[in-house]
Amino acid sequence: MQADFVLLPGDGIGPEIVAQAKRVLTAVATAFGHEFRMTEHLMGGCAIDACGNPLPDETLQACRQSQAVLLGAVGGPKWDDPRAKTRPEVGLLKIRRELGLFANLRPTKTWDELLDASPLRREIVQGTDILFVRELTGGIYFGESGRRPHASGEEAWNVMTYSTGEIERVVRLAAHAARGRRGRLTMVDKANVLEASRLWRQVSEAVVRTEFPDLQYNVVLVDAMAMHLISKPRDFDVVVTENLFGDILTDEASMLPGSLGLAPSASIGSGGPGLFEPIHGSAPDIAGQNVANPLATILAAAMMLRYSLQLEQEAQAIEAAVNRVLAAGCRTRDIAGGGAYLSTTEMGDRVVAALA
Ligand code: IPM
Ligand code: MN
Repeated sequence: MQADFVLLPGDGIGPEIVAQAKRVLTAVATAFGHEFRMTEHLMGGCAIDACGNPLPDETLQACRQSQAVLLGAVGGPKWDDPRAKTRPEVGLLKIRRELGLFANLRPTKTWDELLDASPLRREIVQGTDILFVRELTGGIYFGESGRRPHASGEEAWNVMTYSTGEIERVVRLAAHAARGRRGRLTMVDKANVLEASRLWRQVSEAVVRTEFPDLQYNVVLVDAMAMHLISKPRDFDVVVTENLFGDILTDEASMLPGSLGLAPSASIGSGGPGLFEPIHGSAPDIAGQNVANPLATILAAAMMLRYSLQLEQEAQAIEAAVNRVLAAGCRTRDIAGGGAYLSTTEMGDRVVAALA
């Protein structure tokens, strides 16, 4: 198979971790007889520095023409000035919207080898296996916003809007995923307060009742969900929710396995190229030191092969290689618990070797 991938290394540790994922993809291509063409483009703070735009047209064009996009991370203190004309995050929101990536899949699974890295007790987290499906192109992230004068200074607002169609398509995608897993779907909302949530509840229930009656379905309020995630994470299979709730809950959930450094994510939806990235950010504090954990990005590359090219075997080969490396005791600093650790490039070496 031939495929074109766009790599967007981005800022901070982004270039270091994407470089390791690229090596792994090259090794997979060789092992399975594929040709992966990978070209790098600017996005985020580096793109602001180069041309004043966090998502240059040239980058977006290249993404549209590719099979899939692998992103490192964007942002950093250099571009954090609240009065700046634009921000790296604007590029990320724009690419999600432009590519129609309405569903963000964030699997949260504990690794038996790393259970002691979890801030929670082993008996609570062991065996956790949740797939979060976060709505990604709607809600308060993209609603009307503004400021106006107020007696006390200013007043600011952001509007949360959802349509029937936006809810249906993401719930459907989550329900399909649940069918392929343990058959359980949880929808998270704040229907006791928000009108947008009441529409979510109504539409989601209708989709499940008419199209997925085989699923075990329940709804949970977002505040209760925040609590259940750390008290009984094993109770959940697929969790679907709106954009902002999903943003917050997936950061919370990413701590269950002990490190953000192992959590990949896939943004898909429109049938065009998907966007694959680690959940963690650009970690500017450790950028350029060759200590970042490349595994989340490597696992995102596995998701890219699975969801964009249906290369299930190849995806599993990468995941198995990561498993072997962790089982062999290889650790980067974030998961070493103060013990000996490998550099970013050494971890990449180990995964490439484990693929062979
Ligand atoms: C994420 C990030 C982004 C978001 C930021 C960087 C805009 O936190 O992917 O979860 O809020 O969606
Ligand atoms: Mn987030």
